[in-house]
Amino acid sequence: MYASYLSYIKFAFRHHWAVGAFNVSNLEQAQAVIAAAEKLKAPVLVNTSEKAIEYAGLNALAAVVKILAKGVKTKVTLNLDHGRSYSIAAACVKAGYNSVMVDGSRLPYRQNLLLTSRVVKLAHKHGIPVEGELGALGGKEDYISGKVRMTDPVQARDFVKKTKVDLLAIAIGNAHGIPQAGEKLDFGRLKSIHLALPYQPLVLHGASSTPAKDLRRAIAAGVVKINIDTDLRLAFAKSIRKFLKNNPKIWDPREILSPTREAIQKVVEEKIKIFGSNNKSKQHA
Ligand code: G3H
Ligand code: 13P
Ligand code: ZN
Repeated sequence: MYASYLSYIKFAFRHHWAVGAFNVSNLEQAQAVIAAAEKLKAPVLVNTSEKAIEYAGLNALAAVVKILAKGVKTKVTLNLDHGRSYSIAAACVKAGYNSVMVDGSRLPYRQNLLLTSRVVKLAHKHGIPVEGELGALGGKEDYISGKVRMTDPVQARDFVKKTKVDLLAIAIGNAHGIPQAGEKLDFGRLKSIHLALPYQPLVLHGASSTPAKDLRRAIAAGVVKINIDTDLRLAFAKSIRKFLKNNPKIWDPREILSPTREAIQKVVEEKIKIFGSNNKSKQHA
């Protein structure tokens, strides 16, 4: 079913599991993510970045995810990932998204506050929850890169109070993209953020390749949503490379792309089990 995370996120926070938010930009990826969630009875978020929206088209992506969501029992949420402007957030609200992330983390603090508050005001008017970000992640995705800035716990408390975000994405050493040498999570900082904001559900981005034990430790310290993109893209690319190498004469996109669905679904299932969101689609209802 198509539903926001509002009905279960506090439950997840209290019971120490996290919902997976998986990035997609085409039909097969969306099918794979939703099939994995349905099979494991796990609520799930389907993430679409600005780049994904430019690639596939906002209304087309929204329609595909909504239709797929309506065909399953588990809760599927369509989330704008790293929206960098009021206009993209507003366009997603208009297109029927039921979750938005506004990412003002590259802006000076006051501008991040202003942008995030404006998006929260609009989205909440429509009953749509909002994720904001404070601090800046390392690594590189197409539109999100720059200097790392760890989240400051005191500023985080001020940010949540002033913006009224539902979820807060934090920078604690996590990085987008292929993991770099020496990348590791600062659990001391996570603990300080959690102590400063004991009731605030937190979000961990850039979680591809992060060891399962670190993800479980982060969940125990208040992380309730975990974003995965690179691991799915790698599975997609590997599947196509392998298929074409083994089947050089096949040219039907359906034959080439079917194995990508299986490969992505497998990765999503593994992550869901690590996050502990399997068999949680009913418990909070
Ligand atoms: O965290 C960002 C996502 O992985 C999106 O990446 O902008 O290349 O779609 P993208
Ligand atoms: P990875 O690509 O590192 O998994 O990060 C995903 C992400 O944070 C999407 O917002
Ligand atoms: Zn991210």
